[in-house]
Amino acid sequence: MAKEMKNILVTGSVGQIGSELAMELRRRYGAENVVATGRKTEPSEELRSSGPFYFIDVTNIDTIEEVVKKHNIDTIYHMAAVLSATGEKNPQLCWNVNMNGTINVLELGLKYEMARVIIPSSIAVWGPGVPLENTPQETVLKPASMYGVTKVCGELLCDYYVLKFGLDIRGLRYPGIISHETLPGGGTTDYAVEIYYEAVDKGRYTCFLKEDTKLPMMYMPDCIEGTIQLAEADFSKLKHHSDFNHAATSFTPAEVAVEIKKHIPEFEISYEIDERQKIADSWPNSIDDSAAREEWGWKPKWDLASMTEDMLKHLRARKEAGALYK
Ligand code: SER
Repeated sequence: MAKEMKNILVTGSVGQIGSELAMELRRRYGAENVVATGRKTEPSEELRSSGPFYFIDVTNIDTIEEVVKKHNIDTIYHMAAVLSATGEKNPQLCWNVNMNGTINVLELGLKYEMARVIIPSSIAVWGPGVPLENTPQETVLKPASMYGVTKVCGELLCDYYVLKFGLDIRGLRYPGIISHETLPGGGTTDYAVEIYYEAVDKGRYTCFLKEDTKLPMMYMPDCIEGTIQLAEADFSKLKHHSDFNHAATSFTPAEVAVEIKKHIPEFEISYEIDERQKIADSWPNSIDDSAAREEWGWKPKWDLASMTEDMLKHLRARKEAGALYK
């Protein structure tokens, strides 16, 4: 029988995904039972006032352990990570935060006999030579970025802790995540968020990826739903643990622009390619998530058209309220 998840800790909860995940977990598990943590950036008023919040450093196990003990934590969602573009600028930092953060969380999972540890992975696990369309669950993992290297090592480390110690760990390979609450930072797929903000703000956007760069993408509600669904899935039905391909849709910058134009006809896109193109070129166009569908019932709800409509609705309302960039 799987242990119950009662007291949850979220690392990286001031980040793009962690901020919305922590709030959703508070709604589902009770605000007092979900401890949000970040390293440096001030949390939003909503995150700070709706439940416990602490500053920790995931590379320093003592700072995590203090919170684990204080709140009797039995579940960790480990969302803190340095993403792909920042990782290429500072590979040592990326290794330190992503690898030491991960092993610290795993060690605390063991020490406190936790019910569950959830550690996301990424499409960055793949590299040149991988089948680009419908990339299968099982295929060669040879990333060309430090972020990808840490995600492959992280998946292997997690699966090792499942096998060797029987710790209940789960993880999924996130595509680019699009959201309107918290801006992403330091990623290659960040354009797919910026484009909506700039479309609403200025009616134009200069994209750092080429117009035909197709990447796997997902709207935040699907990302949050999938993550919690995997955490709550029946362990005995899982053949995979830390590396589920997780897909919703795939598109290019040109395709997003066409979709935005349906709502903002005067919208214009131009291109100034930078070093992130190289990272994007090493990633798949689309991925096969049949293992997630079969083993824990994954099914996305949002596509490019419905996501675009929803993103623009939220961002326009914020612009009218004078708070587009919170
Ligand atoms: N969004 C991430 C990045 O671009 C991919 O997981 O780095």
